[in-house]
Amino acid sequence: STPGNSGGVGYQVKRIRLGNCEIDSWYVSPYPDEYSRHPLLYICEFCLKYMKSEYTYTRHCAKCPARHPPGDEIYRDDNVSVFEVDGRKNKVYCQNLCLIGKMFLDTKTLYYDVEPFLFYVLCEYDEQGYHFAGYYSKEKRSAQAYNLSCIMILPSRQREGYGKLLIEFSYLLSRKEGVAGSPEKPLSDFGLLSYRSYWRRAIYEILIDSAQPIAIAEISRRTGMTIDDVVSTLQTDGMLQRVGGLVGSGYQLVVDHGRIKAYLDRADEKNPRRIDASKLRWAPFL
Ligand code: ACO
Ligand code: ZN
Repeated sequence: STPGNSGGVGYQVKRIRLGNCEIDSWYVSPYPDEYSRHPLLYICEFCLKYMKSEYTYTRHCAKCPARHPPGDEIYRDDNVSVFEVDGRKNKVYCQNLCLIGKMFLDTKTLYYDVEPFLFYVLCEYDEQGYHFAGYYSKEKRSAQAYNLSCIMILPSRQREGYGKLLIEFSYLLSRKEGVAGSPEKPLSDFGLLSYRSYWRRAIYEILIDSAQPIAIAEISRRTGMTIDDVVSTLQTDGMLQRVGGLVGSGYQLVVDHGRIKAYLDRADEKNPRRIDASKLRWAPFL
């Protein structure tokens, strides 16, 4: 079931054809009116150009040279790659990316002012090329230390772990930058579910390896998560307990190793694919 599909006034792109998939939109995306009028919008899965008719699209596909996003391939593991695309250097591509993203994002996002952002585009590789599966955007300079602005995985590729894979990737970049990061608020329902699931696993993986009680600050340093996000995850799981009296009272981490181990085993089974930090080819934006 789709979350939104607000009818609204005016025209709205209802369905897109992207590569071999046809996908229904969830929310209104501000495509120019002359495009929104068409019941089906055709989008090149490599350069993300949008077109009104199947005829134009077929001709485009026959001559479009693109087989991957612009920018640098900064990560590759098996058939999955991540490209870093600069909104200033590849403005039209990034605008087209945001227009696709907005079809599945309820909150107000950017579409045309892409220059202050970097885009991390997740693709699946096969002999035809790098097929677009999802992306997230990130401010080049975030005053609030947000490490992710908007994330979207195509509905046709959802529930396969790609959302969490990109979230894991965003924290890897934060650790490389040496700053704790957090996603921009508000989160959507699916966004929150995905983050909660990612956070829990990331923290549990550290707890399972530490025999001694570990400081919250140390968990933050090793995950790239903010102290607040670490604390809220632990609280949600009832792992922070109040101790002490009036003087020297505080919180103590209470860890049930058996429970954590069982959770991690299930998570490994369900989402075996992880980010391999040694496969990142990247330096922070200067
Ligand atoms: N129903 C129930 N649970 C769901 C659903 C769903 N439709 N989708 C995701 N989840 C939960 C699952 O519990 C899963 O955790 P689990 O494996 O522990 O059960 C977790 O979220 C993540 O699953 P993934 O497969 O890694 O995530 P997915 O590839 O489906 O992508 C995403 C998640 C990016 C949020 C996707 O749903 C999406 O693009 N949604 C539309 C755009 C959006 O809402 N983006 C987030 C906005 S907030 C922000 O950008 C800061
Ligand atoms: Zn193209």
